[in-house]
Amino acid sequence: MEERIAVFDTTLRDGEQSPGCSLNLEEKVRMARQLELLRVDVIEAGFPIASVGDFEAVHLIARTLEYCTVAALCRTVKRDIDRAWEAIQYAKKPRIHTFIATSDIHLAHKLKKTRQQALDDAVGAIQHAKSLCNEVEFSCEDASRSNIEYLCEIVGAAIAAGATIINLPDTVGYAIPEEYGAMFRIVRERVPHAKNIVFSSHCHNDFGLAVANSLAAIRNGARQIECTINGIGERAGNAALEEIVMAIRTRKETLGLDTNVNTEEIYKSSKLLTTLTGMMVQRNKAIVGANAFAHEAGIHQDGMLKSRITYEIMTPQSVGIKHSTLVLGKHSGRHALKQRYAELGYELSDQELEQAYQTFCTIADQKKDIFDEDLIAIVEDRESSADEFYHLENLQIFSGTNLRPTATIELRLRDERFVDSATGDGPVDAAYKAIERITGEIGKLTEYSIKSVTFGHDAIGEVFVRVDFDGVMFNGRAVSTDVITGSAKAYLEALNRAMSAKKRRDVQQNGAKEKAVAV
Ligand code: KIV
Ligand code: ZN
Repeated sequence: MEERIAVFDTTLRDGEQSPGCSLNLEEKVRMARQLELLRVDVIEAGFPIASVGDFEAVHLIARTLEYCTVAALCRTVKRDIDRAWEAIQYAKKPRIHTFIATSDIHLAHKLKKTRQQALDDAVGAIQHAKSLCNEVEFSCEDASRSNIEYLCEIVGAAIAAGATIINLPDTVGYAIPEEYGAMFRIVRERVPHAKNIVFSSHCHNDFGLAVANSLAAIRNGARQIECTINGIGERAGNAALEEIVMAIRTRKETLGLDTNVNTEEIYKSSKLLTTLTGMMVQRNKAIVGANAFAHEAGIHQDGMLKSRITYEIMTPQSVGIKHSTLVLGKHSGRHALKQRYAELGYELSDQELEQAYQTFCTIADQKKDIFDEDLIAIVEDRESSADEFYHLENLQIFSGTNLRPTATIELRLRDERFVDSATGDGPVDAAYKAIERITGEIGKLTEYSIKSVTFGHDAIGEVFVRVDFDGVMFNGRAVSTDVITGSAKAYLEALNRAMSAKKRRDVQQNGAKEKAVAV
């Protein structure tokens, strides 16, 4: 059995304190619950002295969680430590995490203290924390830029004062893996009683090396890794939990190590954080990005169809993603196209496939996304066009402070025009309800995103929606300088696609019935 590495999640402390990531009390508790489902070992819930909000969040999380250790951060200052303890004292497994900077740069410019003063502060703080809480972690902020002899001295003093977990952060993301690993090796070799202590890594990502540095630390004896979901955190962020955990899990034979994390909860945790903070992960983000299990190149798709292990080092299911996707685009080959047609119920002869492939290539050169409707249109020799469906003719919104948003919409279906109004929670909701009233088609909006594609006050916004009509998902996209108009148009595109698919299904079913009657 592989030796365990403890996962210390600091999404709610180091992650939450970074720009654009603030969460309210309820959101923090929701996230903490999800982290518990993920089975991390320690949740650093906040920095209680920093604000009343932080204190309340740590306090509530400490009372709520069942299994995880709940840590609270504090400086090596008595009132910080008391406040941290007040917040976590009712946790099933509390931990006080106290820190002081140890690099000469921080000592001289930030703290204006001598090395000896910082050491004395640390010892006093740890002794005080230890009198309150059995588990005390001590961090040497900016350890990777600290003098190694002094680092060993202060770590030795911290252990003698009662700390049982020693964290050596790369606070400014300055270290490179060999160097960061060597620091752990040297401190563990030189400091008395280091064998009984859990050493912890805490890496920031300024060079994009946070995960590599964390792995170097565990290769050199660290047994706790501090990290955040999606790698959120100060500046370029912290080491991403999902990346370290999956590297350890996937390469556990090589490393001889593993964690307790239930990796199938990774994607859900990442999605929840994105929803709560609004901070999206880039498409090519390792493990949780939209492209992490998507394949477009023909050679890769062909390999994947022959055997998944050709291009995937872990399964999407192992991180909670339903399946890999073969994205049909201009780099796709015949094999993937044939497979997708088979999934859509079309068994194509070699000749039919070749014809479809040629048309597909022409369309793929012009269009970024190719949807199933386009593929069906290709083999049915019809244009993938929504011309015969609804068009937005007019949209009027009545909205403002203390007003119930109301939308009046006029749609055209061929030569007929329809007008109706509806109210909603917001102008977009009102517009969607008015569309539903006119068309009678009820869709469930499962994804909605809006992004600016140009700059300035008159920027063009691109709206993307994903709507569930009778259990089948349809996408819609539109660009407009008016976000409500864009939202209505994107929704109509999805609805038109759904109606088009329904119409085709009806034609097929009627054809099948007529055949059956004739027989
Ligand atoms: O990056 C850092 O040094 C920290 C410490 C406070 C642990 O976040
Ligand atoms: Zn940090």
